Amino acid sequence: MMKVIVSNHSGFCFGVEKAMNTAFTEVNNKDSIYTLGPLIHNKQAVEKLENNGIKTIEKLDELEEGTVIIRSHGVPKNVYDMAYEKKLGIVDATCPFVKKIQKIAKEYKEKGYNIIIIGNPDHPEVKGINGWCNNEAYIVKTRDDAKKLPFLDKICIVVQTTMSLSLYLELAQIIEEKGKEVVKFNTICSATKDRQEAARSLSQKVEAMVVIGGYHSSNTQKLVEICKQENPDTTFHIETINELPIDL
Ligand code: F3S
Repeated sequence: MMKVIVSNHSGFCFGVEKAMNTAFTEVNNKDSIYTLGPLIHNKQAVEKLENNGIKTIEKLDELEEGTVIIRSHGVPKNVYDMAYEKKLGIVDATCPFVKKIQKIAKEYKEKGYNIIIIGNPDHPEVKGINGWCNNEAYIVKTRDDAKKLPFLDKICIVVQTTMSLSLYLELAQIIEEKGKEVVKFNTICSATKDRQEAARSLSQKVEAMVVIGGYHSSNTQKLVEICKQENPDTTFHIETINELPIDL
């Protein structure tokens, strides 16, 4: 008989759970409530929010009144400024781990450091962090990006919360050669690390892995990559039960 083992670390991470709870609480208290971008990278969860009257907008320009929920990835500083100007309500569901990175980026920028974000330049979390240091950060995603950096006087390294630890360590080592004075903050979120380690160790013990999560979720994609290293042909990434090829 087939045995199914659920990973020790599964389900929403702390930041996303908090954002979802915040959204459901706020919808009971306020009339028009919007999330700026999908609250999480999970289609089914977004549909559930919409069914409860929480609409998704892409830009603040679209809104003249109401309350906007800032999602767990966070947003650049100018989004808060614009919301205040437009007198919109703000419910800030930025994950505290992301807030911490934004704070470091702002503080060290003000102290004259060049901010280097190790992460994916297209990810909203990275764009958000960059928006706390005048959009002047160097964003490093690959070894090549790191090697191409100019030599800089003062460098402050932060890392996207969902990066893999091994890639961070590799890139940080290259970047450290590029600065006279370098400070670095390993800002990878522990939820990510725990999940990745649990997925790796579980995938070494089983014949097939099923990763359930949004196709656009960076966290989920990383888990799929890790599981594929152990089970290249028998790792299945699905969003809902209907996508599971059970007849295999
Ligand atoms: Fe989740 Fe926050 Fe970590 S949103 S993945 S707990 S940074």
